[in-house]
Amino acid sequence: MEFFLTEEQLAVQEAAREFTKNELLAGVIERDRDMKYPKAEVRKMAEMGFLGMMVSPEYQGGGMDTISYVLAMEEISKVDSSCSVIMSVNNSLVCWGLEVYGTPSQKEKYLPKLASGEWLGSFCLSEPEAGSDATSQRTTAIDMGDHYILNGTKNWITNGGTSAVHLVIAQTYPEKGHKGINAFIVETSWPGVNIGAKEDKLGIRASDTHTIMYTDVKVPKENRIGEDGFGFKFAMKVLSGGRIGIAAQALGIAAGAYELAVKYAKEREAFGKPIAQHQAVAFKIADMATEIEAARLLVYRAAWLKDNGMDYTGAAAMAKLFASEVAMKHTVEAIQVHGGYGYVKEYHVERLMRDAKITQIYEGTSEMQRIVISRNILNGQLYEPMWKIGEN
Ligand code: CAA
Repeated sequence: MEFFLTEEQLAVQEAAREFTKNELLAGVIERDRDMKYPKAEVRKMAEMGFLGMMVSPEYQGGGMDTISYVLAMEEISKVDSSCSVIMSVNNSLVCWGLEVYGTPSQKEKYLPKLASGEWLGSFCLSEPEAGSDATSQRTTAIDMGDHYILNGTKNWITNGGTSAVHLVIAQTYPEKGHKGINAFIVETSWPGVNIGAKEDKLGIRASDTHTIMYTDVKVPKENRIGEDGFGFKFAMKVLSGGRIGIAAQALGIAAGAYELAVKYAKEREAFGKPIAQHQAVAFKIADMATEIEAARLLVYRAAWLKDNGMDYTGAAAMAKLFASEVAMKHTVEAIQVHGGYGYVKEYHVERLMRDAKITQIYEGTSEMQRIVISRNILNGQLYEPMWKIGEN
């Protein structure tokens, strides 16, 4: 068993850390306050190769492993989770799904633009009445022979106002339930695609979240992903990988808050010594460090399983569940360490707490992760503890 990162992985981590410090930190409070989309910052992320990290170089991607992607997500999320969710959706839900399940012509047409960041993508599954219960799709895609006609509404769509491509999940054969669902590549410039107002959110306020309306959108048949009826499984498979990205985001948020809390606790004095030397604060720091490290191991392990071609659905759900709970708990603790200063925007930790909350909700709530984990265990499908892998 190895716990070392490779030189390449360390280089990605360092590059993301420097990028975050130099490009994201200065304006993050203002972007959050004003819900200002990080346009210049996303362009720089594209130049750095952060928007198509795992895509093959053949399609202008970075050809990197999931661990490298997780390391970059973690660093960027320490400061700006609006930027990291834009990155995560494009990498894990859109590019990865297209590269693994797209046809050669779909990949040639869409992947280079998405991986290079010239275009952004959105993943359109959630609906006003279908969030956790993702099989209850009301968006319809009627088969018209050489094309489909798409009608419906999607909610909470990340990159909704900026993306050029949507991966849309829709029902073609309602009588078949989830086996009648399809996934489509839809260009936002097509007639009938309408973008609603930007949501005014608790956290990740600079990211671009919209409702999308599709009215009689003509989708060519060659834009369906996979076999007829593969759409729900496509969504589930893509979300399993996506959850590793969101787990890394939660880990970064927790680690960012922890680093700020330790720095503050060493500098701030009370009762004649730095507050870090009071046991009440020192024990908080010890608990934060321990639980964040446990989350890190789960997140890296899920990424490692994916990179090694093993089943990672249960491991990804565990990583997301635990890391997001740790992020919520310890951003609150980081505010407590800061006292009154933690309650004001200048000290960053209140933003990290607001950003943490969404990691317990999107790409499957904590409750849905528990369903995935328990079903995996009870079905006997997996979950192999890491120590057993070497025996296989
Ligand atoms: N891989 C492959 N197939 C899978 C799968 C996976 N990970 N998970 C389920 N399936 C298959 C099942 O095997 C089953 O197929 P069969 O009938 O052929 O056996 C089929 O899919 C249906 O599965 P379930 O019976 O388990 O379905 P369910 O209705 O009980 O739901 C669920 C399962 C896990 C709760 C699922 O609905 C779910 O994950 N819900 C949460 C949805 C979600 O994550 N939404 C996030 C929105 S996207 C977002 O947030 C993006 C953003 O912009 C940030």
